[in-house]
Amino acid sequence: MNERTLDLIRDVQDYPQPGVLFKDITPLLGDPDGFAAMVDEIAGLFEADKIVGIEARGFILAAPVAYKARAGFVPVRKKGKLPAETLEESYDLEYGSATIEVHRDAFAPGDRVLIVDDVLATGGTAAATVELVRRAGADVVGVAVLMELAFLEGRARLPGVEVRALLTV
Ligand code: PRP
Repeated sequence: MNERTLDLIRDVQDYPQPGVLFKDITPLLGDPDGFAAMVDEIAGLFEADKIVGIEARGFILAAPVAYKARAGFVPVRKKGKLPAETLEESYDLEYGSATIEVHRDAFAPGDRVLIVDDVLATGGTAAATVELVRRAGADVVGVAVLMELAFLEGRARLPGVEVRALLTV
């Protein structure tokens, strides 16, 4: 993506709590060319059978990436939101803790899975998602994010996983 497109991500000071500089991607999502460029670029990074999107902001990117790549879409959701039998993982988040789930039968054995999210921060969410995918019997080919907050060293929690970010801050 070009510089002008990436400039559409804006800083919001003191959200969601004082002292945090929040990277707001909504202006980029609202830009037709920017949104398309972002989806096209992520879809071209890896070959995958299934694209996993992480609730909630991850869904915004992962679903169109799956469509573009002609792959299946699998939602990883916060606990209690998926109707059938699930696997779950708990993890620490930048602002608190959380439990996420995936349907136990979401993947065929050996499915190649790309995990897509908007932001890689501490890496807790992505690491828990990698665990879920592996426990469900599939192979993680990579993690693709729009933005990596490198100073939080999220990659360190994803050893052996190929992580690609369109933008690193
Ligand atoms: C944000 C973001 C990632 C995660 C990254 O989601 O969308 O999923 O945090 O943080 P980490 O690398 O430190 O785990 P959030 O839990 O705020 O949920 P939302 O998408 O529903 O807003």
